[in-house]
Amino acid sequence: MASLTVRQLDEALKKRLRLRAARHGRSVEDEVRTILRSAAADEAAFAAAPEPGAPAEPSKPSDPAAKKALLIIGGGIAAYKSLDLIRRLREHGIAVRVVMTDAAQKFITPLSAGALAGEHPYTDLFDTKLELDVGHIRLARDTRMVIVAPATADLMAKMAQGHADDLASAVLLATDRPILLAPAMNPKMWSNKATLRNAAQLRADGVHFVGPNAGEMAESNEAGVGRMAEPLEIAAAAEALLTPSSGALAGLRMIVTSGPTHEPIDPVRYIANRSSGKQGHAIAEAAAAAGANVTLVSGPVQVAPPHGVNVVQIESARDMLAAVEKALPADIAVFAAAVADWRTANNSKEKIKKTGKGTPELALVENPDILATVAHRKSKRPRLVIGFAAETEHVIEHAKAKLARKGCDWILANDVSPETGIMGGDSNTIHLVTKDGVEHWPPQSKNEVATALITRIARTMSGRP
Ligand code: C5P
Repeated sequence: MASLTVRQLDEALKKRLRLRAARHGRSVEDEVRTILRSAAADEAAFAAAPEPGAPAEPSKPSDPAAKKALLIIGGGIAAYKSLDLIRRLREHGIAVRVVMTDAAQKFITPLSAGALAGEHPYTDLFDTKLELDVGHIRLARDTRMVIVAPATADLMAKMAQGHADDLASAVLLATDRPILLAPAMNPKMWSNKATLRNAAQLRADGVHFVGPNAGEMAESNEAGVGRMAEPLEIAAAAEALLTPSSGALAGLRMIVTSGPTHEPIDPVRYIANRSSGKQGHAIAEAAAAAGANVTLVSGPVQVAPPHGVNVVQIESARDMLAAVEKALPADIAVFAAAVADWRTANNSKEKIKKTGKGTPELALVENPDILATVAHRKSKRPRLVIGFAAETEHVIEHAKAKLARKGCDWILANDVSPETGIMGGDSNTIHLVTKDGVEHWPPQSKNEVATALITRIARTMSGRP
């Protein structure tokens, strides 16, 4: 077997490889391995493909378990990548039916999309043949999911407003299937307040997102967040949505901490923080849906306990540590709780009264660090120990220091400055810090972060890169 030395590649290629590897959170060597593996899969798919002109493999509309996706191609320069996406989806065993907007047809032809999908794309809401034959309502329903790639700013605006003036928007309004958007646009358009508003609305409506990624744009001298996610990433996100996740963590025990802790001052007062528990609870729920046996150790929160999870409710950091240790052994532990760093040195048995002779002194002592305690255990250390780092400045730097100091395997860092709205809010922007580097995840709902994390954990536990 020939060996390949990355160092000997030309500089431009090395730069692109490094960028691509950073985006996927892999080492350059792992990225090269992934590319080679996918090329080998391409080769296998090519060998198995029918001769040109041969009838496409019949889809099985009566089989409810069949993996079928409706791909809506919007009008953007990234539409050329959607052709590759069709192939990637088919490699995942997903049958693809295509709808193209008018603008998409300015970038790629229905002929190319049809040749790859094995079926002519649908383009016109007022096509009599379509309406008599399949109809936009059937198009919206006879699929397990809808993917929009590229999702342009205009398509997102139409979706957020509920427009239905062409086939793509009518299908999106009519579908009750999961929708996955792969936005692609100029960085200025993506960061425009109107687009951010529409993206937030769509997330609140339960729409899933993959990307956009940061990098260079098709336009020269333009870079930033707005590149469509790579076809492989979109296909993996589609696969994750289509595959009932039961099983990915089957047989594994997992501990999740969530919410704030309350440290008593006296019987009625306590020290607390603004953690809502939304992120930790979402992770516990996603883990249970993936088949893990989950113990959720939660501080006082308003969010409902997730389904299928063993919930242990505690108040203080010391109670949380005791509950976590009691739940060991476990294969995986995710510490998403915002544990109070200090508690009062002596909490008063009676309510502290105003005496009129000055204010009471509150002496504080440090709480045990639950994450560090578990990560440094000699026995019963879970195989994967994951912490969070809520920071308001130097997010990555502090997270890297925390990874080393606490002895955990991964840190999910996020900026919790008040202007981000992350603390207590519904969305989150994660930077995954591991010993191999930093992976920047796009802004997503806390549920999407949970799904992405569980997918990542499942991959690691199964020994895949
Ligand atoms: O508070 P800090 O930023 O150090 O928290 C980082 C990580 O450590 C989080 O995952 C948090 O849940 C965990 N932690 C803990 N026990 C503490 C403090 C933090 O488990 N006493």
